Amino acid sequence: MTSILTRLLLALGCYALPALAQQPDLVLGAFEGKDMDGWQRSGDAFHTAPFQPGTSGRFSGFEGKGVTWSGRGGFETKGALLSPEFEIQRRFINFLVMGERNLPATVGVELLVEGRVARAASATETSDPARLLHWRTWDVRDLAGRKARIRVNDNSATGWIAVDQFAQSDTQKSAPINATTLMQETFRPQFHYTAQSGWLNDANGMLHYKGQWHLFHQHRPPGWPATVWGHAVSDDLLHWRHLPTAIPCEGKNAIFSGSGLVDWENASGLKRGDELPLLFFYSLHPASEAGIKTTQCMSFSTDGARTIEKFPGNPILRTPATRDRDPKVFWHKASRAWFMVLSLSRNNTDRDHATYGLFRSRDLKSWELLQEIGPGAWYWECPDMFELPVDGDASRTKWILTKGSGDYIVGTFDGARFKPETEPIRIHWHNTYYGAQSFSDAPGGRRVQIGWMSTGDKAARPNVYPGMPFNQQMSFPRELTLRTTPDGPRIFRQPVAEIAKLYTKTHDLGARPLAAGDNALAGIAPGLLDIECDLDLQQARRLSLKCRSAELSYDVKSEKLRLLRADPTLKLKDGRLSLRVLIDRTSIEAFVNGGEVDASGVYFPDVADQTLSLTVEGGPARIRRLVVHELRSIWPASSAP
Ligand code: FRU
Repeated sequence: MTSILTRLLLALGCYALPALAQQPDLVLGAFEGKDMDGWQRSGDAFHTAPFQPGTSGRFSGFEGKGVTWSGRGGFETKGALLSPEFEIQRRFINFLVMGERNLPATVGVELLVEGRVARAASATETSDPARLLHWRTWDVRDLAGRKARIRVNDNSATGWIAVDQFAQSDTQKSAPINATTLMQETFRPQFHYTAQSGWLNDANGMLHYKGQWHLFHQHRPPGWPATVWGHAVSDDLLHWRHLPTAIPCEGKNAIFSGSGLVDWENASGLKRGDELPLLFFYSLHPASEAGIKTTQCMSFSTDGARTIEKFPGNPILRTPATRDRDPKVFWHKASRAWFMVLSLSRNNTDRDHATYGLFRSRDLKSWELLQEIGPGAWYWECPDMFELPVDGDASRTKWILTKGSGDYIVGTFDGARFKPETEPIRIHWHNTYYGAQSFSDAPGGRRVQIGWMSTGDKAARPNVYPGMPFNQQMSFPRELTLRTTPDGPRIFRQPVAEIAKLYTKTHDLGARPLAAGDNALAGIAPGLLDIECDLDLQQARRLSLKCRSAELSYDVKSEKLRLLRADPTLKLKDGRLSLRVLIDRTSIEAFVNGGEVDASGVYFPDVADQTLSLTVEGGPARIRRLVVHELRSIWPASSAP
């Protein structure tokens, strides 16, 4: 009877009735007693009794005294824990979880409704020293009255999971999440690249070969003992196909960042069949730095990057310090030589004396140091170096040296020396764009850059992308051009034009006055968007673009543009502001004044929040142009909004 009534009321949306608003929680598993409250175990990962961490420091954030976890008998044990059957009688299911971030069917928690997985959640990184259990919430309103069970999985030979305090509740403990369908999970970006599972950081080895864009990246897939190179390929810089790990770690020695290129003239002599050799340069980073130095190594492919092997003559370069790394190799046409720009770190003890070393080679295997560029803290990790025409004029070029954020120095390079002509120029604000690199061998002289859109704050990283099998995302690919400005040639970054292929619908909201308080985006939902906006601020003192919990604002008096934690100073020319804003499920990228400055950030909204607004305060403004494109997902069979 209760069941039918509850089901009816909930299905009719009457769950908001005050009488139902705050019914007491129904505990499904608190793991406090001596036995498992009827939860059945299979395999040998979970124990027959809950575990009481006490003051051991083994876990934090759990409720009461006990938790259950799958690592007591060793991490290699596998198995599952299945709750007794229950009826869904509340709006939400809350629980505490931590463990290996993996696909939920491998390590994670699933809600089974009549045998089918109806909700899922991944755990979080085990690297969190506090081993803090996090609250996760499933919104189960549409499942009211159905019979369900919860399954906790540990089918991993390396991972483990800890859970506590499963309860049905009318109050949510976190923004609801669901990770049931791979690539369509709640916080999965829908047009920004992510690894299927595991941690991702710097972009590596990026090259274009035979019509395909190869993106490699720092990757820590679940179960691997150290960082490897992940790999994905795309025909259009939009749709990525995940490929197997490209460069595996060597025991616990990690494959750190580096670059890739097409060896057009077979300078390496590694060519075997019809394909040109593809070479990859990386830093082999020892598990322990005691006495062992990072060395620069090479891998190569003779079958168009289908398989990649390690070069038997590794390392190809040894340098005196322990942390020298991130080799970026490029071709210099006039001197017909290969160059490597490498971060020289002075053992990581004295950042102020860090430099970028410039090495030369004829065969890509032996290298001589030509120059050290720097010193200074600016010359730290992830360099890139390339030539760009000024205003598209191939007879007037400059050489650009970039660091991980994409911040850059303009100069000249004659095959012997890089001569800086500017101080370092800032293009990105806040450390949410890093490990950036441009594609080698891009057709038509294009210079396309991708950066790691980092969540920044290291301490918070285990709990970002809550409940998702992956952690971190890449930026949308940016096209770099060098244009004359009153200050000299400057880089402009814009999303690659290919993005237009993702447009499903375009709203041209025209040119019109915008009164203070009016929402110029009224009627548009906060889905996947590419917003082009050009306006005269006139008497307006502040502009605000809000999408769910994220805000991009410009304050006329302080001349500050703010996006999440980025806050570049921006001087308007004649009161005019031009914005290009890409909005994905968990990220926003803003390109200001044609891409002279950009800011980006990651956020984890409650998807029920439908806020999308563009407003001004303090007085009216005039919209010159406002065009909003709705985008489709890049992932197959997507249910993206
Ligand atoms: C930059 C960096 C690189 C290094 C890699 C390791 O984010 O620290 O210098 O090669 O990440 O993942």
